Amino acid sequence: YVVGVDLGTSAVKVILMNKDGEVVNEVSKAYPLITEKSGYSEQEPREWVEKTTDALKDLVQQFTGEISDIEGISFSGQMHGLVLLDENNEVLRNAILWNDTRTTEQCRQIYDLVGEEKLLEITKNPALEGFTLPKILWVKQYEPDVLGKASVFMLPKDYLRYKMTGQIHSEYSDAAGTLLLNVAEKKWSEEICGLVGIDSRLCPPLLESHGLAGTITSDFASETGLAETTKVFAGGADNACGAIGSGILQDGKSMCSIGTSGVVLSYEETKDRDFEGKVHYFNHGQENAFYTMGVTLAAGYSLSWFKDTFAKDEDFETLTAGLGDVPIGANGLLFTPYLVGERTPYADATIRASFIGMDASHERSDFTRAVIEGITFSLNESIEIFRDSGKKIDTIISIGGGAKNETWLQIQADVFNAKIVKLSSEQGPAVGAAMLAAYGSQWFSSLQECAEVFTAEDVSYEPIPENVEKYKELFKLYKDVYVKTKELN
Ligand code: XUL
Repeated sequence: YVVGVDLGTSAVKVILMNKDGEVVNEVSKAYPLITEKSGYSEQEPREWVEKTTDALKDLVQQFTGEISDIEGISFSGQMHGLVLLDENNEVLRNAILWNDTRTTEQCRQIYDLVGEEKLLEITKNPALEGFTLPKILWVKQYEPDVLGKASVFMLPKDYLRYKMTGQIHSEYSDAAGTLLLNVAEKKWSEEICGLVGIDSRLCPPLLESHGLAGTITSDFASETGLAETTKVFAGGADNACGAIGSGILQDGKSMCSIGTSGVVLSYEETKDRDFEGKVHYFNHGQENAFYTMGVTLAAGYSLSWFKDTFAKDEDFETLTAGLGDVPIGANGLLFTPYLVGERTPYADATIRASFIGMDASHERSDFTRAVIEGITFSLNESIEIFRDSGKKIDTIISIGGGAKNETWLQIQADVFNAKIVKLSSEQGPAVGAAMLAAYGSQWFSSLQECAEVFTAEDVSYEPIPENVEKYKELFKLYKDVYVKTKELN
């Protein structure tokens, strides 16, 4: 058996998988976001460790087999979050997360100090608020004592792995989202560290995603019941693991994942395609491969915000049950999901969301449909960038919350004008994490071979031409809302 740990933004999920690629058990534990000010988003790393320990303990207690048969464990993690440790490896402050947008000024500083062209050349990405380096510079500017005490920075799942193994590492797929990695050469960039005035010794040693980080400590073994021989593999960024778990392991494959954030992602064999920084360009969890990706910051988050604000006592299924009864266009209601700013294509931390066209006849079901259409339109803006660059996107594997509702899957097919494929018994990035443990444990000779056993396609949804036309018109209006509401800021 192997365990996949998905350290998400709202919860940690651990899954146990067997050699046939079946999910034998799954346990999830939630933790809160700390939002002290508008634009701030933090979490306590201690919570991640406690909740993961609890989840693994439950998993072990419910396991009826021989404990040493759980051979390996690996991770998928929310990306970009900054964890700072002192010389005793104690956490120095709350983690600043990927959806925290306080760092617009630090992004400007990065451009001033490094230059836009050089930054893009080395990191293959622009300076965006969510990435890690701007967060380090924010701490340097506003909490210099804290940075002064730091001996290493870590990404969320890397910290969790450290607490399980006592070993400090990162790996390429998550390091790629820091703006400190030379993505093509797969090494920390001394040059960028020098230019922005960060000690490069803060950067942890790097592994491949399937690389062995160690075995679990005796303390962690006794807390969870896992065997001390359990091998721990580095793991990957959640989007890289989502890609692995969906079999996005060769050119021509694309995925749409709707979790708290939403992404559209496409496999890249080489480091050489040029999107001029319009989409993120990161190292894959598959050795020496890459992926490009556009991000909607508040995708599933928009729907959960809507539910928590207007339908607190309902679950998502009830809320979205009548989605198909509302016509395309939600009876004239349009939503833009910029609750916390937007990444792709605007890279704008200050824009905010809107409902446009509210009518006295509108009911809550119209709002729900508008929210879902708005999230999908926003993801379509990333698809537009891919297509404009000459990339063919005709089939997309859909995972996450957006794949749980049939009407939403059809909306994706119609808005994206692409065939949408759903996976059977889809478990999101946790499967990618488990696959890294399976491959690391040498059950398979490649991740592709592993994907043949661990992932299976289920139903697919074809675009309906009439709907595609309607959505094309609505998408034009949707894009206009950004331009117009931007003026109000
Ligand atoms: C990607 C990003 C988000 C997080 C969510 O750049 O910021 O998708 O990875 O965990």
